[in-house]
Amino acid sequence: MKSNVVDVTKEYYDSSDADNFYFHVWGGEDIHIGLYKNDSEPIADASVRTVEAMAERLKHLPAGARVLDVGAGYGGAGRYLARKHGLHVTCLNLSLAQNERNRQMNRRQGLADNVDVVDGDFENLPFEADSFDAVWSQDAILHSGNRKRVFEEIDRVLKAGGDIVITDPMQKSGVDKKALRPVLDRIHLESMGSVADYKAFAADLGWSVQSVDLHNHQLVNHYSRVRAELRSRESDLREHCSAEYMDRMQKGLGHWIEAGKQGRLEWGILHFRKG
Ligand SMILES: C[S@@+](CC[C@H](N)C(=O)[O-])C[C@H]1O[C@@H](n2cnc3c(N)ncnc32)[C@H](O)[C@@H]1O
Repeated sequence: MKSNVVDVTKEYYDSSDADNFYFHVWGGEDIHIGLYKNDSEPIADASVRTVEAMAERLKHLPAGARVLDVGAGYGGAGRYLARKHGLHVTCLNLSLAQNERNRQMNRRQGLADNVDVVDGDFENLPFEADSFDAVWSQDAILHSGNRKRVFEEIDRVLKAGGDIVITDPMQKSGVDKKALRPVLDRIHLESMGSVADYKAFAADLGWSVQSVDLHNHQLVNHYSRVRAELRSRESDLREHCSAEYMDRMQKGLGHWIEAGKQGRLEWGILHFRKG
């Protein structure tokens, strides 16, 4: 059974406004929070730094090991893991528009044999049990209306002893739901996950916590950088995105920045191991 939010999310990411915005603002590889060294660093550079930091947690995997990227966007992380670490990556993603761009980039970069792209929903993974050595997910699980189910699906397709490396924007435990409403409205959700939720799901599945590294200030840095980029490139972006979308995005980013500054949001790298 899929949660209602899946159709809304698919429609959003498949819209030409969202596809063009993410593709042009982030540079076409990644759509996730970056690890910034300074305020003026390009979004794409900081985004790759997040991928590098996550890949450190998988450096023990041998070449050819199979990694599933859950909610893979344009597949930048998959290409990085294939190119730098020789891993075989399966990108599972809901958005057909993103998946098409992902396949094109894999072909152009000579990685079509190393990175598969599968259309699908992470609440119902279209894979056999015990198919992967590791599962990876960046800033995607927040979009689920049933996050426990996503963890259960990850557990099912992951081999015993496999690693799970996740980043996600999360709400701080105990935060007033009303105060988060403007943030949640932008992503059409009733709630976000919290570190406590993810640790509890992991504990129920018998996973061990390898590390939890929170970088909450990077969430504020990142959305501030995206908003600055939107403002400075407004006329260029207006060729690709509607004025209405850009206005909504600016307001939405403002809500995320504010909630982050108020200490209501968290973001970081969570590393678990199955069994
Ligand atoms: C913020 S983007 C992150 C994309 C990618 N992980 C990255 O870091 O570049 C969120 C992604 O989650 C995907 N997504 C949302 N709900 C999903 C679902 N139910 N099943 C699979 N993918 C989903 C969207 O299509 C989108 O690509």
